[in-house]
Amino acid sequence: MTARLLDGKAIAQSVRDNVGRQVAALKAAGKRVPGLAVVIVGQDPASQIYVRNKHLACEAAGMHSPVILMPDTTTQQEVIDVVRKLNADPAIDGILVQLPVPKHIDSKAVIDAIAVEKDVDGFSPENLGLLAQRTPRLRPCTPYGCMKMLEHAGIDPKGMDAVVIGQSNIVGRPAALELLMRGATITVCHSQTKDLIGHVRRADIVVAGIGKPEFVKGDWIKPGAVVLDVGINRLPSGKVVGDVEFAAAAERASWITPVPGGVGPMTIAMLIQNTLEAYQFREGILANTDRTVEQPLTPPPR
Ligand code: GUN
Repeated sequence: MTARLLDGKAIAQSVRDNVGRQVAALKAAGKRVPGLAVVIVGQDPASQIYVRNKHLACEAAGMHSPVILMPDTTTQQEVIDVVRKLNADPAIDGILVQLPVPKHIDSKAVIDAIAVEKDVDGFSPENLGLLAQRTPRLRPCTPYGCMKMLEHAGIDPKGMDAVVIGQSNIVGRPAALELLMRGATITVCHSQTKDLIGHVRRADIVVAGIGKPEFVKGDWIKPGAVVLDVGINRLPSGKVVGDVEFAAAAERASWITPVPGGVGPMTIAMLIQNTLEAYQFREGILANTDRTVEQPLTPPPR
């Protein structure tokens, strides 16, 4: 292997420690601590584990962190009523409804009920729109985590050709907007893309968020490219792999995220970070104008 590892576990821990220190300082100053409410509807075992991990991360950072467990039989209106109560609760800065919700509930209706200033997933049209306008407020956690990893490794996407594989609202689209905001040139590939391999072969940065085990082959990776693998796929053997053929890609890449231990831990870390930021916005400590990122096009040299 020639690539260096983008160690998500270590970077996530440093983000979480940093948030923990800021929460401790608020506590020491006699101030209210940030609060994240996590709502889970039904018994999906994977969701139960995710929610537990989110709750534990909040507790470790010293935050207030109620978990609201609702049975499978809960109606959409009952979930929306809980969300509205949390919207009005001054001790709560962030609200997360764990997805998927049971089939009889429209997830968009539930997410749309979350007050935008408490949308710590960054899923709302307003938060996604603000990112598109280069004035992000609450940013989708996984792409935000990808950018944090690049920052930690000292990788500046400015001027790079980035290929994002997958166009989901949660990963692909916001990842493309994040990279564009930092001055990369973006290609978003999806199921209708004619020459996926050709696009990947030209990419300086590859973000893979498709949800198909080892779909991206190692020999597609341009020598020296940076590979961010968002996939978490469990094989029938029980082994967890990403969307990229790790060992072969690591022979060509300059930097690569492992799976597990890469982008995954960053998603929870950025949720904790977003909860702190939501608190800071609500308390008037932070304004999103502070974070305007201008990326004017530099004319090519003559
Ligand atoms: N289910 C799986 N990942 C996520 C996430 O990031 N946010 C929410 N709300 N649900 C999820």
